[in-house]
Amino acid sequence: MNKLVRKAVFPAGGLGTRFLPATKVIPKEMLALVDKPIIQYGVEEAIASGIEHIIIITGRGKGTMEDHFDHSFELDATLERRGKHELLAVSRNVATLARISYVRQKEPLGLGHAVLCAKEFVGDEPFAVLLPDDVIDAEPPCLKQMIDVFEEKGGSVLATQTVEGPAISAYGVLAGAQDPDNPRIYNCTGMVEKPRFADAPSSQAIIGRYVLTPRVFALLEQTRPGAGGEIQLTDGIKALLKEEKVFGYTFEGKRFDAGDKFGMLQATVEFALKRPEFGAKFRAYLKGLPL
Ligand code: UTP
Repeated sequence: MNKLVRKAVFPAGGLGTRFLPATKVIPKEMLALVDKPIIQYGVEEAIASGIEHIIIITGRGKGTMEDHFDHSFELDATLERRGKHELLAVSRNVATLARISYVRQKEPLGLGHAVLCAKEFVGDEPFAVLLPDDVIDAEPPCLKQMIDVFEEKGGSVLATQTVEGPAISAYGVLAGAQDPDNPRIYNCTGMVEKPRFADAPSSQAIIGRYVLTPRVFALLEQTRPGAGGEIQLTDGIKALLKEEKVFGYTFEGKRFDAGDKFGMLQATVEFALKRPEFGAKFRAYLKGLPL
């Protein structure tokens, strides 16, 4: 098995119901965070982490993602004619960011099923999974931190964050114990998808970044629909845990759930404040609000 993590899967076949009505026609992954679709943040993170090939799992009505990461000859020609060279560079840059392949998930049967759709492209090598609506502000990039842990530990790595209280029920939750040598690493012994607060085995919630070994594909093929009638990625990883080591990793950085209206608002404010062109102006605007 090739040991390098060179490929990343972006499951983007879901319906995005939490963001209706915006997502009735526009894919959730194409919603703009300041001025970039949220999936572009993930693609840029993957490239900055050393990923060479990106596989996006799409579904019905998701064609704009393919157009976004492609050349737009009419737009580019118009920008060139008008002498808008900076904007032309922005447009061209998106089309040349990465080698991207698309696989269509014909029915949204769950995240585990979406990942399984990438099996032929990934083959027999470890790979990353990035959920595009989890936008992570981190340096080094979250995925790079995880790949380093994967290379050091030699087992699958799941990004986690501590979630206190009943909010834990919205996540997959790890069971296990903190690594005695590195408090950011969690030696995993089990996991539960969306437990009741009372049943949650820990406060370690899985969030949308994974580095997985290819064995998970065979196990996902045997996975029956679980919580919500969907084929859950967590159930596939649970089966993997019986055969291989799996680690949780509390990354350094901040995660925003941009697939949720409130999370998107938080991300918008924080990313806008960081922008050199208008961050100071935006800060002054916020300070002037009668809050
Ligand atoms: P979510 O549950 O966050 O996405 O799945 P969703 O179903 O699109 O959104 P809501 O909850 O209805 O608002 C996590 C990720 O898995 C993908 C989604 O696109 C999202 O990126 N996914 C989910 C698939 O690719 N296929 C599926 O069948 C389900």
